[in-house]
Amino acid sequence: MSEDGRQAPLTKKLFIKTYGCQMNVYDSQRMADVLAPLGYSLAASGEAADMVILNTCHIREKAAEKVYSELGRLRPLKEARRAGGGRMTVAVAGCVAQAEGEEILRRAPVVDLVLGPQSYQRLPELIARASRAAGERLAVDFDAVEKFDRLGAPRAVDGPSAYVTVQEGCDKFCTFCVVPYTRGAEWSRPAGQIVEETRALVRAGVREVTLLGQNVNAYRGAPPNGEAGCWGLAALVRRLARIDRLERIRFTTSHPADMDDALIAALGEEPKLMPYLHLPVQAGSDRVLAAMNRRHTAAEYEDVIARVRAARPDIAISGDFIVGFPGESEADFEATLALAERVRYASAFSFKYSPRPGTPAAASPGQTPEAEKARRLAALQGLLEAQQRAFNAAQIGRRLPVLFERAGKAAGQLHGRSPYLQAVHAPAPAGRALIGEIAEVEITAATRNSLTGRIVEPAPASDPAASPSVAGVA
Ligand code: 5AD
Ligand code: SF4
Repeated sequence: MSEDGRQAPLTKKLFIKTYGCQMNVYDSQRMADVLAPLGYSLAASGEAADMVILNTCHIREKAAEKVYSELGRLRPLKEARRAGGGRMTVAVAGCVAQAEGEEILRRAPVVDLVLGPQSYQRLPELIARASRAAGERLAVDFDAVEKFDRLGAPRAVDGPSAYVTVQEGCDKFCTFCVVPYTRGAEWSRPAGQIVEETRALVRAGVREVTLLGQNVNAYRGAPPNGEAGCWGLAALVRRLARIDRLERIRFTTSHPADMDDALIAALGEEPKLMPYLHLPVQAGSDRVLAAMNRRHTAAEYEDVIARVRAARPDIAISGDFIVGFPGESEADFEATLALAERVRYASAFSFKYSPRPGTPAAASPGQTPEAEKARRLAALQGLLEAQQRAFNAAQIGRRLPVLFERAGKAAGQLHGRSPYLQAVHAPAPAGRALIGEIAEVEITAATRNSLTGRIVEPAPASDPAASPSVAGVA
């Protein structure tokens, strides 16, 4: 709906293709929100769409090539629309847009608009201009403040679990990473705005929020109600936990150097904060960590993990790894394997180092040969997959509270998530609508990627005494 409550008829079709991280998923939803008052509704494909947005990712290899080949596929669709007297507007958004800018307009005439991650609030205006021949076609300024001020509250929710971006950008400058260049400097949304957005989501049926930021635990937001100082992530989480009917809070992605005592304490104390921590380490060798400019040693990382486990013994630890960073020796790589052995991950992502244009490591001597990267990746993934299987198998026989998100792929099945973010499948009980609810599931089987169980009972809602309603507070 528009500001004055009017809704334009939903006559135009919008197709958004999202690449990359959860932040892009959030941004794509917000682009759909901002276009809804103009009459755009989401379509499942680019065929016959009035507007196509490619929300791109630049983090690893071939990102730009993928975008150009997708644009190649869109060209005949756009021409067919034009031949039929219609019009298809094509926009490239996201981190490739930010990084390549003008180059995209030059190389791909099919593109009408290029807009970086902090310009989405300008979409309606840019679309209007693009329909005139000489309109502005490139928007790649960094202005996160304006982005969140002007995007407004979310309009649509898709199931009981939602993302809320709380922080954007990164000041860490790891030498392999494009994020500081594509998403700009660290910036945190004011806490009051996040509380309002979360409350609106909860009113629309959301029961779990995942707070997003490239460096989410570096969150330093203005407190609500004009209080002085600034809030860290722990204060924000504890405030959100007071929202009645919000049952679960998660956050991602954290940096080891920003895991402060307050956040570790919140992981131990706040029942709504789920026992899952994604804490990338990237490498196990101090020499490589220093070359990556990670700002911590392997021992410091493991000390953080030990303190988190002391606060919350059952916590599921997840991580990211890069193999074949320039100059990584066999001994360095073995230090990565050894660290992974010691940490025992519940899940983890590992990648071959990919030289990103404009980052310091891309120009380093001693690039690792491709075949060697592949070998190291296979060895690390073998270990991490075995750890994930072991973590999942350890749940067999336990009862876990599962938030059911949607119907499963198999008939009569529900799909949900355990507190440890594991996918859980269970047969739907007759006569009980459990989507959007938390129910207790006895786990009977486990694979690397999911758990299976049977619903034992709906789990009790979180203790109202421990989480008072915030109605009328904020
Ligand atoms: N090459 C390979 N992996 C990378 N990542 C970030 N930049 C690169 C790169 N240049 C990985 C890191 C990060 C995750 C989101 O992507 O592991 O944590
Ligand atoms: Fe990239 Fe490092 Fe910032 Fe993470 S902390 S976004 S890896 S620069």
